[in-house]
Amino acid sequence: MPVVVFASSKGGPGKSTAAVLLATQLALKGASVTAIDADPNRPLSQWALLPGCPKNLTVLAAVSEATIIEVIEGAAQRTTFVVVDLEGTASMAVAYAVSRADLVIVPTQGSQLDAIEAAKAVKLIRQQEKAFGRTIPYAILFTRTNAAIRPRTLRHIREEFQKHNVPSLRTQIQEREAFRAIFSFGGTLESLDVSQVSNKDAAIKNAREFAGEILTLLRENAEPSLAREVA
Ligand SMILES: Nc1ncnc2c1ncn2[C@@H]1O[C@H](COP(=O)(O)OP(=O)(O)OP(=O)(O)O)[C@@H](O)[C@H]1O
Ligand SMILES: [Mg+2]
Repeated sequence: MPVVVFASSKGGPGKSTAAVLLATQLALKGASVTAIDADPNRPLSQWALLPGCPKNLTVLAAVSEATIIEVIEGAAQRTTFVVVDLEGTASMAVAYAVSRADLVIVPTQGSQLDAIEAAKAVKLIRQQEKAFGRTIPYAILFTRTNAAIRPRTLRHIREEFQKHNVPSLRTQIQEREAFRAIFSFGGTLESLDVSQVSNKDAAIKNAREFAGEILTLLRENAEPSLAREVA
């Protein structure tokens, strides 16, 4: 079943945050989900130790460069979705995970310097495509954007990616306190206590749109001709 991999060549653009948002939203829709925590710092495992992890979401942590392919393939047989969170460097584990992905998401903040790092991750994906002789669908995800303003820089960067045939998701992950709070309090956005965070509803809407767009992309990639027909 589909494997969605979060990758970046630089630390900190929001991979683990987006990975938990996707995994929890899919689980809340009723799907069985495995989240593979392939970052030695184990951010997903720490989140899963807190209360409120959905029952149909399993977080696997004991993965290494030597086992990551096996772990991904095993999880893909057991659950409807697999979400892989990687460390923010280029490593063999990253290359292996990308090689098994049905979709690679490259999160980036909307600055030129961050975009240059995102372009490096795209290069790695394209190298893996050549090495493994298969197409690996991917998309840039703009993160930590401001819900209220649309900076020109961000539009410019998106257009630059487009010019180079690098697709980006329509949905952006906005800068939201609720997205930090799930790592403090555990569980899902939905289970957060409203007294603990502001604008919880806006965060939920954003996370659902994000998960919805990922599902659409997975569907289109699985059956491109059908998706074109129904479009
Ligand atoms: N959309 C967001 N809104 C608010 N805070 C965010 C958002 N995305 C990420 N952050 C914060 O930014 C920091 C880095 O995010 P995160 O750990 O998700 O990035 P990462 O790409 O997984 O980093 P690493 O490469 O180190 O694994 C964290 O403190 C996180 O809480
Ligand atoms: Mg991380």
